[in-house]
Amino acid sequence: MGFEVEPGTEPAGAVLAKADYDGPGVHRVAFVRALAPASPPSGWTVRRHPQGEPIAEDVCALLMDVFVGEGFTPREQIGNALDPSLLGTRGAAWVAKDDTDRAVGVVFLVEPDSPFRQVAVPGEREVHFMAVARSHRRGGLAAALLTECLREARARGAKKVVLSTQPAMRAAHALYEKNGFLRNAWRDWSRDDGRAYWVYELALR
Ligand SMILES: CC(C)(COP(=O)(O)OP(=O)(O)OC[C@H]1O[C@@H](n2cnc3c(N)ncnc32)[C@H](O)[C@@H]1OP(=O)(O)O)[C@@H](O)C(=O)NCCC(=O)NCCS
Repeated sequence: MGFEVEPGTEPAGAVLAKADYDGPGVHRVAFVRALAPASPPSGWTVRRHPQGEPIAEDVCALLMDVFVGEGFTPREQIGNALDPSLLGTRGAAWVAKDDTDRAVGVVFLVEPDSPFRQVAVPGEREVHFMAVARSHRRGGLAAALLTECLREARARGAKKVVLSTQPAMRAAHALYEKNGFLRNAWRDWSRDDGRAYWVYELALR
């Protein structure tokens, strides 16, 4: 990935952006506010989480903010799903940090034989808990996290990547559709409490 905004073409107060891809597992994005030099710079870096190690508290807090705070998961239903040690065993994970080392994005890629799998069958990998902090949305962060998932799935020989979204997750639907995923309503499912999930799939080539 990479993008650049040419100086001089932006409106007053706009953000100049430069992004570089630094090899597998690492994306760097730096932002410089053109006409507001007093503002702190705000960018992000995506790194792979060491497999099996507990997930950091600030990542768990981000997931709590996004999934519970934004009303996707009722607080009483979250159970121990965001426990740091348990999250560390969910699968491969990538975490995005901002310039102050605060977690601003996360995603997991789950194996089909994992106890955490929802719909994946052998030959597939499943994306879980894609989340980006509100402060960092629409900057390509989720797309970068998804790129890591797809790269890993291909490297592990998967034929398909699948995931479940809630009907209200409209930004997520747009993200996945833009990246080639198609909804497969035949695989939609719901929880005992009635929460419905739409399944999206991407065939890997
Ligand atoms: C869905 C989510 C992860 C997207 O994160 P993001 O970093 O803002 O996404 P990106 O900037 O990488 O967006 C990539 C593309 O997705 C689409 N998209 C993302 N957010 C969108 C929105 N709010 N409205 C319309 N399209 C959107 C766009 O096509 C976008 O490309 P563009 O900005 O060039 O138009 C974020 O909104 C989020 O955390 N939502 C709540 C949790 C959630 O629904 N998770 C998904 C679980 S399956």
